[in-house]
Amino acid sequence: MGITCKDIDGGKLFKLDTPNSSYIFRTADNDGFILHMYYGKRLSGTGLDDLARIKEPPFLPSGNERERCSFMDCAPFEYPGHGLGDYRDDAFSVISNDGYFATSVSYSDHRIIQGKPRLEGLPATFGNEDECTTLEITAVDAINGLEIILYYSVFENVDAIARSVKIRNMGTGSAEKDNSSIRITKALSTCVEFYGGDYDTITLHGSWARERIMDREHLGYGKRSITSVRGESSHQEHPFIALLDHDANEDHGNVYGFSFVYSGNFTAQAEKSQFDSVRVMMGINPVDFCWNLKVGEEFRAPEVISVYSDEGIGKMSRTFHDLYRNHLIRSKYKDCKRPILINNWEATYFDFNTDKLIAIAKQAKELGIEMLVMDDGWFGHRNDDSNSLGDWIVNEDKIKGGLKYLVDEVNKIGLKFGIWMEPEMISPDSDLYRAHPDWAIQIPGRKPTLSRAQLVLDLSRPEVVDYTFGQVERILKSANIAYLKWDMNRQLTDIGSAMLGKEGQGELFHRYCLGVYKLQERLVTEFPDLLLENCSGGGARFDPGMLYYSPQIWTSDDMDPVMRLQIQQGTALIYPLSSMGAHVCDCPNHSTGRTTPFATRGYVALAGTFGYELDVTRIPEADRNMIPAQVAMYHKYNDLVRTGDYYRVASYLENHEWDCWEVVSKDKKEALITIINVIGRVNMKSRRVKLKGLDPSKTYSLRYYNMDKADEDEEIIRLKGDALMYAGINATGDYHGDFKGRLLHLVEI
Ligand code: GLA
Repeated sequence: MGITCKDIDGGKLFKLDTPNSSYIFRTADNDGFILHMYYGKRLSGTGLDDLARIKEPPFLPSGNERERCSFMDCAPFEYPGHGLGDYRDDAFSVISNDGYFATSVSYSDHRIIQGKPRLEGLPATFGNEDECTTLEITAVDAINGLEIILYYSVFENVDAIARSVKIRNMGTGSAEKDNSSIRITKALSTCVEFYGGDYDTITLHGSWARERIMDREHLGYGKRSITSVRGESSHQEHPFIALLDHDANEDHGNVYGFSFVYSGNFTAQAEKSQFDSVRVMMGINPVDFCWNLKVGEEFRAPEVISVYSDEGIGKMSRTFHDLYRNHLIRSKYKDCKRPILINNWEATYFDFNTDKLIAIAKQAKELGIEMLVMDDGWFGHRNDDSNSLGDWIVNEDKIKGGLKYLVDEVNKIGLKFGIWMEPEMISPDSDLYRAHPDWAIQIPGRKPTLSRAQLVLDLSRPEVVDYTFGQVERILKSANIAYLKWDMNRQLTDIGSAMLGKEGQGELFHRYCLGVYKLQERLVTEFPDLLLENCSGGGARFDPGMLYYSPQIWTSDDMDPVMRLQIQQGTALIYPLSSMGAHVCDCPNHSTGRTTPFATRGYVALAGTFGYELDVTRIPEADRNMIPAQVAMYHKYNDLVRTGDYYRVASYLENHEWDCWEVVSKDKKEALITIINVIGRVNMKSRRVKLKGLDPSKTYSLRYYNMDKADEDEEIIRLKGDALMYAGINATGDYHGDFKGRLLHLVEI
């Protein structure tokens, strides 16, 4: 396993192996081309030299310089440069000192090291010397005087490879006269070439209140491209693309998933060429990007994770879950059951005060809930969303007695206390804006474009980062606060920084993102015991970058369990269930207007962090009476949900009728199956469900969770794993009416 390098005819061959995949490329010819050869199911190490087939047409330029362009336009470059005959999209372009755009990437050296170096200032996966091996390919663009370092970290026990890129201005370019900068206009993080297949892509699309809905398409000629230019990963498109065999499904076929560990503007695309090869690329979106790289300076492009599965989409998801649980999320809470929280946003919106919160806390405590989270509206003069962001001073007209008094009272009741903040924002109606209008991102002379009546702080400025951190720090230190919901409720427009000057505006999007990372790094360093939940107008910044700082992220403002089936399915395509913020909502649901059984709302929230977002003093008595049983259900199953392997059994998005997922413990001794019958089919009293992921030779006992008993019923059947998987079971239950659900628990006997 790991990484090997071997001398071959005319170059070097690099082979990167994970337990079930191989990734192979070579260097070639006098130009030092770095050419991709293979990515897929693991290959044995011999006889690979001819895989690149560079002796056959299209030949290397050294064999036929006259037709160099034919070669350039079909060569499988590991990191394609710009403007020298490869007409497909490139990974890397600049404006040189003398004004030219072209780039080239030629091998010069390499080293292989144990472990995985950190990416300074950026979130990234991690692994120690036993878990990872890293290959650094040093390449040069001699004309531009640039060094390009391609990093490949291979995980020993997970079918994942992390790639990133560093570009250094060596000051040796042909036009190097002074200390002026090269301007990088594009620096993507990965490029992988695929040949000879018929492929589909899977991407995630959405909007506010319906984030990350799966979208599968057949890949035709040209580009399938998704992007964000919104300054965050966004509700609309997601920094993820999978390329898969056209006939691959949940359990079979080759699937390649690419996930960007970044929270700002991105581009991800698959391009099918005239020769049927497919180039997949991902990285920072080049739109409005222009980075000045002075002599001696370096630019680091964030990392892309690629995961390979030879057993369909499901295995790709489980690999991402394992990787992100063990090698990305750092919080001490990642391996713990989180406190069951109740959040007052949809309970009260802005209309709350100390008394109301204490009444909710008292009732919540009686029902077994463990933490109260005070959402938006506790500061400045904020009774609606038109003002006060930036003025993080508690509003004592509402919070009588102050924040510490409220927190102490809630603690006395026996609940932890959490708080909401939106630190990156500034309202034009705020003391902060009146004092520092230039701290808002905007273009001089243009009326700034408002969204939710607010502007965004210019976090490219170190003094704004410092000030913002000071505000968060002051609030967190002012009382016994156990949890912070860090929100970000508008996307970036009007890209203008008062500090970056004429040459620097193309750096603002990325510098903003680096500013967010600086803030969150300081936060988790200074408050290691704080439970941090990131959020962005629901789930607009649910990405691997933010998971590096917070073990959970608010998945969506839409808590309707039917919509959540699709949202959570799409989110769990990449992210572990332990990271998905999920609450039981009030009904009719505030986003969809739909009324669903209280039990079903609980089953769906159980697949995430689990909490409540309703006024527990005012909901129907029957619903309130069910909460202790749901609390018991969470305590009984959360360890399994958080740590197990996730299997999609049936998808409502596809069949429009029912949904089923399963979590199997790593030792296969236990499994939890959730069935939601969304639209009841007449006379469909039972349904045959073929389970997955069990040990065929183990015998399991099956029980249903019974809400009335707040515990499981007696054993229903006893069956072996093979029968449960290949013959299936009848999932009986009360399916008369829509939106009914059931929980089935299997335990080895
Ligand atoms: C965003 C969040 C909500 C809530 C509101 C408060 O929309 O996603 O959960 O916190 O902001 O303004």
